Amino acid sequence: MVSLKENINLLSKIATSNQHGENSPYFDGWKAYDQDPFHLTGNPNGVIQMGLAENQLSPDLIEKWIVKNPKSSICTEDGVDQFKDIANFQDYHGLYEFRKAIAHFMGKVRGNRVTFDPDRIVMGGGATGASESLMFCLADPGDGFLIPTPYYPAFDRDLRWRTGVQLVPIICNSSNEFKITQEALESSYKNAIESNIQIKGLIVANPSNPLGTTMDKETLKTLLRFINDKNIHLVCDEIYAATVFNTPDFISISEVLEEMEHPINHELVHIIYSLSKDMGLPGFRVGILYSYNDGVVSCARKMSSFGLISSQTQYFLASILSDESFVEDFLRESSRRLAKRHKFFTQGLEKVGITCLASNAGLFVWMDLRKLMKKPTFDEEMALWRLIIHDVKLNVSPGSSFHCVEPGWFRVCFANMDDQAVDIALERIHAFVKKGKENKVATTKNRKNKPFQKKLRLSFSSRLYDETMLMSPRTMSPHSPFARSPLVKAST
Ligand SMILES: Cc1ncc(COP(=O)(O)O)c(C=O)c1O
Repeated sequence: MVSLKENINLLSKIATSNQHGENSPYFDGWKAYDQDPFHLTGNPNGVIQMGLAENQLSPDLIEKWIVKNPKSSICTEDGVDQFKDIANFQDYHGLYEFRKAIAHFMGKVRGNRVTFDPDRIVMGGGATGASESLMFCLADPGDGFLIPTPYYPAFDRDLRWRTGVQLVPIICNSSNEFKITQEALESSYKNAIESNIQIKGLIVANPSNPLGTTMDKETLKTLLRFINDKNIHLVCDEIYAATVFNTPDFISISEVLEEMEHPINHELVHIIYSLSKDMGLPGFRVGILYSYNDGVVSCARKMSSFGLISSQTQYFLASILSDESFVEDFLRESSRRLAKRHKFFTQGLEKVGITCLASNAGLFVWMDLRKLMKKPTFDEEMALWRLIIHDVKLNVSPGSSFHCVEPGWFRVCFANMDDQAVDIALERIHAFVKKGKENKVATTKNRKNKPFQKKLRLSFSSRLYDETMLMSPRTMSPHSPFARSPLVKAST
């Protein structure tokens, strides 16, 4: 058996470094869920997965379309005549029909206020693969990218791990709903320069993961002026572009770029997109890089050989995305279902006095539990998080894993489960808060102080799960949070 120390010498620096960012409570929570997954009848006391930003509210609409359109698949009697050609196709430019359909779809989800050129569509293995390729095109190891906090935890892996790029935080806080300001941008840029980090760009997710908010036009203009003045890149991850279910509408950077009075160098602007959220197809690994820079398009296209979308998937998507009326109905119905679920969940939280940042997009809410903590510290936040997983049996993600600078915020996903699971999750939260209040009343009578918080601290000592398990190569990969494949599940 090779010891860990020997392994470090045997393997590369990338393999043995901690830069993958997966040693975070964000990923640990998924593993805790995997060890005791909730199932309505099979394991009703298990952990409910609320740490997974998946849109599972509308697959039935796609299923119905598939049944009506058997020719869209090369593995059906109706579509098999295309099998040979499609199975052989491996050009890294992608099927033209696919690029055309996806460019059109990207325009549609932006209200047709902007058009996209199919020749600028570059494929990647999900937004994950597309954004890493973009980093390889834009930056060298050690270069920095500014990023507003709180941000999606897996960016530490996707943008940084293999590229060697550094992520430099732009500090945002609740005093202005975590909006990015000119001052915060300038201060972060200045700090980076003083630390001898060469800043190559700014990356933002709009709509935001974890905030569930969309950026207003003024903020987008501020970002464009800022990157143009500094002559650095702007990467906009717009993976939730159509996952917007309330006003204000989503505004894409591509729209603002067109209408800027001040001329902006288009070559500095790049968009990351994917069908993982808006169409609820994360398993298809459809990632898109759209760049206004010819050099980036050309280089990224060569790199896309490392993460092509299967031609079978391209063929299917070209077909479904070209069905205009289906796409319109799907997007409308998906937003309606998301709005309904969001309202139900946030109102359920409000019944016990829990509020969230006001949001109109995404598959999660940014829940404010600051008043459940005795002190505003990250230790207290972790204690509360462990209690929520261990006692309440919900996997939510603590703000610290999103690099939030204010303790007490948690991201809670609400669209990856059915109505019954949401009801049970809310019941558990209600019981948890009620118990805390009852303890408080009882202990106040006994003249003891702050029992609710004391309970949190006491429970912190209990072991949630065996942490050595987390290091085991046998535990599932955090990139695929479901331990077993659906095929295996179906047969057991
Ligand atoms: C902001 C953001 N970017 C990228 C990704 C990764 O998406 P994909 O599954 O397309 O790789 C996610 C997934 O949660 C995300 O929230």
